[in-house]
Amino acid sequence: MAEVSVKNVTKKFGNFTALDDVSMEFPDGGFFALLGPSGSGKTTLLRTIAGFLFADSGSIHIGNKSVDLIPVEKREIGMMFQNYALFPNMTIADNVGFGLRVRKVSSDEERRRIGEALELVQLSTLGDRKPHQLSGGQRQRVALARAIVTNPRVLLLDEPLSALDKSLRVDMQVELKRIQHEIGITTIFVTHDQEEALTLSDKIGILREGRMIQSGPPRSVYNNPVDRFTAEFLGDANIVAENDGNGRLNVSGNPSIKIPKGAETASALAVRPESLSISATEPKQEGLSKVHGRLVQRMFAGAMSTCIVQCGSHTYKMVARDQDVPNLSEGENIWLSWKSAQTIVIP
Ligand SMILES: Nc1ncnc2c1ncn2[C@@H]1O[C@H](COP(=O)(O)OP(=O)(O)OP(=O)(O)O)[C@@H](O)[C@H]1O
Ligand SMILES: [Mg+2]
Repeated sequence: MAEVSVKNVTKKFGNFTALDDVSMEFPDGGFFALLGPSGSGKTTLLRTIAGFLFADSGSIHIGNKSVDLIPVEKREIGMMFQNYALFPNMTIADNVGFGLRVRKVSSDEERRRIGEALELVQLSTLGDRKPHQLSGGQRQRVALARAIVTNPRVLLLDEPLSALDKSLRVDMQVELKRIQHEIGITTIFVTHDQEEALTLSDKIGILREGRMIQSGPPRSVYNNPVDRFTAEFLGDANIVAENDGNGRLNVSGNPSIKIPKGAETASALAVRPESLSISATEPKQEGLSKVHGRLVQRMFAGAMSTCIVQCGSHTYKMVARDQDVPNLSEGENIWLSWKSAQTIVIP
């Protein structure tokens, strides 16, 4: 059952349409990511689900009930805002307990639930400190504890990890997933980080200019993008053929790029950087698509290496484990190849 359903929601600010007929289902207990460029409507969608904004048309359901007429405080939602500012003069414990005091729970229960929430985010010993005495990652966890202390049904997180540096962010991703799993709460989070969305979530939704252009499990959206924007937004994509405007794919005079059956009238073909192989000599196996070009740049990045290859007017990006890139130098003529099954057809 969908814990949260967004049904044909449109939200305007004056003449500007921030959400345009958006629909998406968020099944019970799942972890969902909303992705999209800046200004695409991610925060607006989260705020509409929370009840801080009201849709002009369409409907939001939580559980099986419409919440369209239900105010924020009755929607049983925990929300962590994009700027999650803690109250600087309150202790950590008082920050976490804020939502409980608003709800006027007894002071015994308040103490117990603050204790539980702090334990969940592994900050039990720091309840008496003030926010400025914590690290960035610890403050982020306080904000998370504050969002879950009221036992909400749904957790909404707006770019919860964006203020953290890379290594701390990865630690917090693991932590966030652990906490979400432990309490089994339906979680919708907004991120700018495509990799974060792909690794963490059961399902992702991609917004562009207020429209939900694709949603589904990460692997299926990654492998079957509905359009070129999604293909290029979610990871890197090498566009290997484009429609010539007369309804036919143009492989730029390269007959070694195989057009999958039925894809002759697609708008484009693409291949992911990690699907490409590089070699000094022409690969001869049957069924490979291949292009000839010049290795422009080879970049070592620890476990993986990135190669930039120029093939006529096309620039290709390839990513592989360093040991899988043969001993090739910048400036050499090389071949890139890929299996036909790795060709992404953009409808
Ligand atoms: N209260 C408001 N009044 C007028 N326009 C608004 C208001 N809130 C948001 N907008 C506009 O709606 C659009 C979507 O905003 P939103 O905050 O949802 O974007 P976002 O996807 O969260 O972007 P970001 O990644 O930068 O946080 C933007 O163009 C924004 O300027
Ligand atoms: Mg936003």
